[in-house]
Amino acid sequence: MVSSIKTISLNGIEGNLVEVQTDITGGLPAFEIVGLPDISVRESKERIRAAIKNSGIDFPSRKIIINLAPASTRKEGTSYDLPIAMGILAALGEIIKENLENTIFIGEVSLDGKINHINGVLPMCIEAKNLGIRRVILPKSNKNEAAVIKNLEIIGVNSLNEVMDYLNKKIDIEKTTVDIQNIFSKKEKEGLDFSEVKGQENVKRALEIAAAGGHNCLLIGPPGAGKTMIAKRIPTILPDLTFEESLEVTKIHSISGILDSNIGIINKRPFRNPHHTISQTAMIGGGRIPKPGEISLAHNGVLFLDELPEFNRDTLEVLRGPLEDKNITISRLYSKVIYPSNFMLIASMNPCPCGYYGSNEKECQCSKQSIEKYLNKISGPLLDRIDLHVEIKPVKYEKLNDKKGEESSIQIKERVNKARKIQHERYKNSDIFSNSKLTPKMIEKYCILNKECRRMLELAFNKLGLSARAYTRILKVSRTIADLNGKENIEKEHLAEAIQYRSLDRKYGDKF
Ligand SMILES: Nc1ncnc2c1ncn2[C@@H]1O[C@H](COP(=O)(O)OP(=O)(O)O)[C@@H](O)[C@H]1O
Ligand SMILES: [Mg+2]
Ligand SMILES: [Zn+2]
Repeated sequence: MVSSIKTISLNGIEGNLVEVQTDITGGLPAFEIVGLPDISVRESKERIRAAIKNSGIDFPSRKIIINLAPASTRKEGTSYDLPIAMGILAALGEIIKENLENTIFIGEVSLDGKINHINGVLPMCIEAKNLGIRRVILPKSNKNEAAVIKNLEIIGVNSLNEVMDYLNKKIDIEKTTVDIQNIFSKKEKEGLDFSEVKGQENVKRALEIAAAGGHNCLLIGPPGAGKTMIAKRIPTILPDLTFEESLEVTKIHSISGILDSNIGIINKRPFRNPHHTISQTAMIGGGRIPKPGEISLAHNGVLFLDELPEFNRDTLEVLRGPLEDKNITISRLYSKVIYPSNFMLIASMNPCPCGYYGSNEKECQCSKQSIEKYLNKISGPLLDRIDLHVEIKPVKYEKLNDKKGEESSIQIKERVNKARKIQHERYKNSDIFSNSKLTPKMIEKYCILNKECRRMLELAFNKLGLSARAYTRILKVSRTIADLNGKENIEKEHLAEAIQYRSLDRKYGDKF
């Protein structure tokens, strides 16, 4: 007695078709799984045996061989439980075979025959659709994320008995549909808004520029100046997620198992805020069964590193590659996985260990050496990838009490969206979306300076002692400022504003 069931395996965020072939013959009782299963798949035998028994079916005391084809790729995780159980039930003749056609099975079973939640259903369903599969049978708690994929029949199930009854046409299960339009049109009601931040016009302006051009940004200021408060509000002014972008985000959250099963698709840009004690693996991803790290969970959104110098220097160093490549490759014993990591880096720091260097309120107690050591924790190459340095001074008391309404996030976001549209149009024939991603060649083409601007930049370099690394940063930021102002060419005022955002390149000039 032979049967064949289809399922999907995961490698990184890519799904691949796997055929579960079951052969039940006479001979000594045995239950073997072959086809490069790892320990987590081999363990499924005991679950499946109990689940079938507890669903009221005699588990055959014959020789059962399961082959997971193609045998060349490693299989891991618990999502093979359901397809293997179905393979055995089909081989036993418990299910009408014709009803198994054009169907993918994924799910974990528990000892009592219940079907449990698994991670990574979205990328699996995307592959199922690519393969032209008609129907996916999966755990009920996974049905909403699967139903995001159009033209795929999604059947959410609770137990093995339910699957059998459904396939044998004893019961009907309604296919799941979700209204994507509705999810996307839901406007955030939840608290945070820039209108709560009093004053700080210059900081808000800098962050508007950062959001408009997708620029990485470092906030520098004394304790209590509002760095954390302001950073947490950045997602509220970022441009809206497109459907394609949200699929990418949802895929990563799906394989990480942190997707809310009621929602199905993520409709806002992620904001990840890892603590400074985070390990390198948690930051960039990896582990025995590899998982995406914070940099991938922040894909298409913001990675906020509060108190940057507190992070382990090595953990910060590994960010350099992903900041450049927009993805991360994790090597494994037999394979490698690639996770996307196109995030906007927002970091905060005090100007020195005591926090008051350059402040008017308190005197800085730090020695030159201690400041040097503090700043050295952030390497030059990392700073190199940060376009905007923004100084925050504590807001004045009168401002805090000011009843004058501040601009809301929606108002700022409107301008951001407008500037993004200009960039989309300009870069439509290339593979970038925002000014922050301009290559040196593109900078030459799109960031042309007139004579007056060139002279100003030269002067700035000589007078402020700007480093060479500041040069391309200033041009890219000027381009964004010009876009925010709806100007075709970079003008003197745009350039002058961009130069202001290089404070770390010059600020410590006097103390050193
Ligand atoms: N501009 C501001 N408008 C309103 N409240 C502010 C402002 N700046 C600071 N605060 C208040 O001060 C608190 C401390 O700010 P915080 O963001 O933690 O500072 P930092 O991270 O720079 O140390 C905030 O939670 C907020 O209540
Ligand atoms: Mg803080
Ligand atoms: Zn100090």
